[in-house]
Amino acid sequence: MKKGIIIAIDGPAGSGKSTTAKLLAQKLRYKYIDTGAMYRAVTLFWLRKNLPLEEKAVCQILPEISIDLQYNNNGLRIFLNGEDVSEAIRLPEVTNFVSPISTFKCVREFLVEQQRTIGANGAVVMDGRDIGTVVFPKAELKIYLVASVEERVRRRLLELKQKGVAISPEEVRMQIIERDRIDSTRQHSPLQKALDAIEIDTTNLTIEEQVEKIYHLAIEKINNQKS
Ligand code: CDP
Repeated sequence: MKKGIIIAIDGPAGSGKSTTAKLLAQKLRYKYIDTGAMYRAVTLFWLRKNLPLEEKAVCQILPEISIDLQYNNNGLRIFLNGEDVSEAIRLPEVTNFVSPISTFKCVREFLVEQQRTIGANGAVVMDGRDIGTVVFPKAELKIYLVASVEERVRRRLLELKQKGVAISPEEVRMQIIERDRIDSTRQHSPLQKALDAIEIDTTNLTIEEQVEKIYHLAIEKINNQKS
């Protein structure tokens, strides 16, 4: 018997997935799993190797990659072969290449297997692009977050500014649109709303409001499970 439910939160870049998933996990005392960070870690490793953007080259380096998610006072930290890369994986260079790298089947299989292992015991909030459709198609609660492009650009700019990354609004807008395009048109597990996912438009919601909404849905599911 699982100790808690699996909550899948999917959606495009800047829709509020990671902020929502993190706070929701805290509120429920569940584990938060940022699957995008895992794709970013693979991308960072590939960038450091100076290899071509070719499937064969990327598949070959996967056995050299070990990704570890750890939790401390600073929240979730991402380790790549023992090195804390939590900040490095957010750099624009990684962001520029993460979607093409994520289209490769071997990369998806490599990470999906690890994500299933981490989430197997339940009591997790996992965010990404394919959690409700591929990683955990039987997740008890599936949320699909959306928001207007303008709002998503605004949020990403703010986030990057806080990290001291200088980037123009036009560039962020182009990155977001291009990432949406690659993520939703790729052949393997494209970004799409699962049939049984609940769609929430966060354009005009505060973080507190969206967390509260999903929290109530989660409590309902958890209570139904027990009865
Ligand atoms: O920037 P944002 O937080 O929206 O993205 P992320 O969650 O860090 O994910 C970065 C990229 O990884 C996405 O644009 C996808 O290309 C890929 N990804 C994926 O393919 N499948 C997932 N489950 C999570 C991320």
